[in-house]
Amino acid sequence: MVQSKSIVLLLSLLAFVPFCMSHKIKGGGGGYLYPQFYDKSCPKAQEIVKSVVAKAVSRDPRMAASLLRLHFHDCFVKGCDASILLDNAGNIISEKGSNPNRNSARGFEVIDEIKSALEQVCPQTVSCADVMALSARDSTVIAGGPSWVVPLGRRDARGASLSGSNQNIPAPNNTFQTIFTKFNLKGLDIVDLVALSGSHTIGFSRCTSFKQRLYNQTGNGKPDFTLDQSYAAQLRSRCPKSGGDQNLFTLDYVSPFKFDNSYFKNLLAFKGLLNSDEVLVTKNQESLQLVKQYAQNNQLFFQQFAKSMVKMGNISPLTGFRGEIRKNCRMINS
Ligand code: HEM
Ligand SMILES: *[C@@H]1O[C@H](CO)[C@@H](O)[C@H](O)[C@H]1NC(C)=O
Ligand SMILES: *[C@@H]1O[C@H](CO)[C@@H](O)[C@H](O)[C@H]1NC(C)=O
Repeated sequence: MVQSKSIVLLLSLLAFVPFCMSHKIKGGGGGYLYPQFYDKSCPKAQEIVKSVVAKAVSRDPRMAASLLRLHFHDCFVKGCDASILLDNAGNIISEKGSNPNRNSARGFEVIDEIKSALEQVCPQTVSCADVMALSARDSTVIAGGPSWVVPLGRRDARGASLSGSNQNIPAPNNTFQTIFTKFNLKGLDIVDLVALSGSHTIGFSRCTSFKQRLYNQTGNGKPDFTLDQSYAAQLRSRCPKSGGDQNLFTLDYVSPFKFDNSYFKNLLAFKGLLNSDEVLVTKNQESLQLVKQYAQNNQLFFQQFAKSMVKMGNISPLTGFRGEIRKNCRMINS
């Protein structure tokens, strides 16, 4: 009797283990991410990040989108470890030169500005990886999107991966299956894929990122007929067959600076700019249903976006004694 009671107790204790761990994210150094990480060591950290981001976005409204995207491009390569911020130096080949980032990723000067403000108040305390996670959240809020509590305590990588940046970040002309697989490899599911693609409710794309759709979708000299034809005609006027590759287009033509669910409404009207946007409604039933739900219910989109951003931000962080706290986000400490 006594024995069976203690077995029941043991089992119920074990059943609790996953709950106890669920609010903390295990990092690669035996440590955990948690929102209060800097409460003692740098209590003003979050306030400083927010104020520099706000200033940067008021100077340049596109910056909210750019900072949100930086965190994504960081997390998909070796985890959220600020590897994307490293410049070429010594053994380091910068991720800034990869196909997804070259002539495209921006916001590095803003990260520098935040970091130097932090270094003045609490030297070598707040990681560049955490700065990016916080600025992605703050950018979303400033653009009118949802807020969330950011787990903290990431440390910074001592290396970059150009090949990882080329291979792991989905390309706009990847198939649905390839994009889905790239998310899966990072522990993200179809719900995360659709919700996080909702980031394309703000920001810009260059003509080169979707030109293929306008003129030669499958290599047979024909455009993508799933794209709304009058929208396609408008796009062609500033994204000609040859030249104009760097011309900028809003990802959400309805409200390019407002974080809302109009991206999903556009998709249902076949006015998604990138092929990777369009495939969410043309290639998979499950993602189509999610797009419909988010198009109909902004609250639902916001709630899921916040959850998926936390999940993305938790991709294999460096914790404990792994990595370092960089002094300058562009270079490893010597
Ligand atoms: C699902 C796969 C995705 C693909 C294929 C993709 C691809 C792209 C491309 C091609 C651009 C335009 C880049 C240029 O032409 O310079 C872009 C912009 C952008 N992406 Fe994505 N993206 C994806 C997912 C995401 C995710 C998960 C996020 C954030 C969580 C995100 C955030 C953004 C933002 C905010 C911009 C605008 C950036 C700016 O204006 O500076 N994207 N994306
Ligand atoms: C996707 O775009 C890249 C870069 O423009 C190009 O090299 C590649 O052939 C395209 N892939 C497909 C499947 O169209
Ligand atoms: C379309 O792309 C294919 C393969 O990339 C190429 O061989 C063909 O010449 C292109 N056609 C036109 C009309 O640009």
